[in-house]
Amino acid sequence: MRYPNVLTMLFGLLAVLCLPGAAQAAELEGGPVVNVGHRGTAGLAPEHTIASYDLALENGADYIEQDLRMTSDGVLVVVHDEDLDRTTRGPAENCTGPVGEKTLEQVKTCDVGSFFNERYPDFAREEYEGLKIPTLEEVFRRYGTETNYYIETRSAEAPPGNPGIDASSGMEEELLRLMDEYGLSEPAAGSWRVLIQSFVPASLEEIHAKDPSLPLVQLYSDEETGETIGADLEAAGGYAVGVGPSMDDVDRGLVEAAHAECLAIHPYTLLEEPDMRKMIDLGVDGMFTDFPNRLEGVLGEEAADGNSAAVESAEASRACLSGAGAEVPATGGIPLLPYAALGALLLSLGLLVATVRRA
Ligand code: G3P
Ligand code: CA
Repeated sequence: MRYPNVLTMLFGLLAVLCLPGAAQAAELEGGPVVNVGHRGTAGLAPEHTIASYDLALENGADYIEQDLRMTSDGVLVVVHDEDLDRTTRGPAENCTGPVGEKTLEQVKTCDVGSFFNERYPDFAREEYEGLKIPTLEEVFRRYGTETNYYIETRSAEAPPGNPGIDASSGMEEELLRLMDEYGLSEPAAGSWRVLIQSFVPASLEEIHAKDPSLPLVQLYSDEETGETIGADLEAAGGYAVGVGPSMDDVDRGLVEAAHAECLAIHPYTLLEEPDMRKMIDLGVDGMFTDFPNRLEGVLGEEAADGNSAAVESAEASRACLSGAGAEVPATGGIPLLPYAALGALLLSLGLLVATVRRA
C-alpha cells in the first residue's frame, strides 16, 4: 500500500502544478493616475503658450503636452492645428494657412494669445495679448529636466485610424536630436520623463526603430470604437508603452485589455470632474485635461507629484513587461513547473514499474 499512496501524492502534485490557476500572465497595475496638462491648461490660458504651461504646472499637472509642427525652414514649433487661422492673429500672409508653409520668422509675427481673450472673456488677461508660438527648443530651454513632457508628433493631419500616412518631414529625427541636446533622452527612457504620442503609427514606429528605449503612446481618433482599439492593442504593444483613446471609447473592458498587454491607458480630453471620477473608477492610468487643477482636486491625496508620477509609471510598466507572457507559479517566482512535472512523471512511472514487478 505504500507505493500507491506515494503515487497518489505524486500525481496530485502534478495535477496541482498543471492547474490553470497556478500560472498567470502579468498585467499592468500599481502605477499612479498621471495628470496631463492638455496644451498646458487650455481651459484657463491660451493653448501651447509658456503662460499656459506655467499655470498647468502650478495647478498640479504632472506632464505638459506639446503638439508639434515643423515650419518650412525646419524648426519644430508647438501649435496644435495644421493651419494658423484658429489660434493666431496678425498679418494674413504670415498668420493664416498651414504652419508648414511658413518660416519661423513669419510664425513669430503671430499673436497666439488674443484669440483666447476673445473666446473666453471670463479668463481673459491683458498679458495674454501678443504671446508668441514657442519653438520646442524654447520650451526645453525654459523647463529643462525639471518637468515632464508629453509630446505629440503631428507630421501631417492624420485621418482617423489611418495607419498608412507618411511619418514625413524629418520631425521625428529633429525631436530626438533636441531631446539628446537637452539631456532628455535618458530620463525619458528610464523614467518616462518624456512620453511621445502620435495618432500616426508610422511616426511612432520610426522613433521606435531609431531608439527602442523611448516610451511611446499610440493615440486613437474619436472615430475609432472600443472594439477597433481593442483589436489594435497587441500591435501597439509591439512599439508603445501606452495608448490614448478618446474618453468616450473607454470602458472597463478596454482598460483591462490594455493592461493585459502591459499598456498604460491615458484617455483625452477630460473637462468635467464627474467624467474624471468615472475614468479613475474604470482604472485608467492618467488622462489629458484642459483643467489640471480640477483633476488635482479629484485625485486629492492620491495625486502624485510630477516626477514621482513619471518614475512610478515607468516602474509599473517595467514590472508588467518583465512578467508578460511568462508562466508564473503561484507558489514562487522561479518557473520550475516544467521540470517539476517531468520529474514527478518519471518518478511515478518508475514506482509503477516497481509495484507491478513486485505483484
Ligand atoms: O494628444 C492627446 C490629445 O491631445 C489628443 O487630442 O487633438 O488635442 O491633440 P488633440
Ligand atoms: Ca495632442
